[in-house]
Amino acid sequence: MSKQSELRSLLETIFVVVGSFVGAIIIITLATSKPEPADTSTMVVENEPMEANVQPVAVVKVAEKSDMKKNSSVISGEKIAQANCVLCHGSGMMNSPKIGDSAQWEPRIAQGKETLISHAINGIRTMPAKGGNASLSDEEVGAAVIWMANQSGGSL
Ligand code: HEC
Repeated sequence: MSKQSELRSLLETIFVVVGSFVGAIIIITLATSKPEPADTSTMVVENEPMEANVQPVAVVKVAEKSDMKKNSSVISGEKIAQANCVLCHGSGMMNSPKIGDSAQWEPRIAQGKETLISHAINGIRTMPAKGGNASLSDEEVGAAVIWMANQSGGSL
């Protein structure tokens, strides 16, 4: 064989090898990407067989939402307060009791945990109900109250 034809057959071999690799990757990608939606629908069918038969697309959304709730079932009072309450309570804006200021919180904490939480849920004077975020659950508001009070000399 001449050097040129050796080189050509080497190149041909490389082409075949590379080509079959790329082909294999494409096949693997296609093959592995297909089961994913199938898996999700299987999950939904397991969770809610009735609804899944009637309205699978809607059920997927509902199932995802409830899964998220389950995952976040450990409510972080700190996160909720940071996102919804520090706007006022971080700086004491509008004369709100400032987080960390024990003197301001003491008489409020003295009202009792339940009263304090219910004031936060329902609002009191210039304190808006749920800090103005109606989408918070009572538990989430309660967790935020407990966190804020405990940052401010309390032990709820
Ligand atoms: C728009 C500003 C604002 C936001 C946002 C806000 N608060 Fe308040 N908050 C106030 C003010 C003002 C007061 C003082 C009300 C008063 O006693 O006159 C107050 C008071 C409170 C009190 C004391 C109630 C009592 O019985 O003395 C609690 C508890 C409380 N807020 C919790 C929260 C929680 C929890 C959030 C977030 C979910 C939040 N606040 C968000 C303004 C706010």
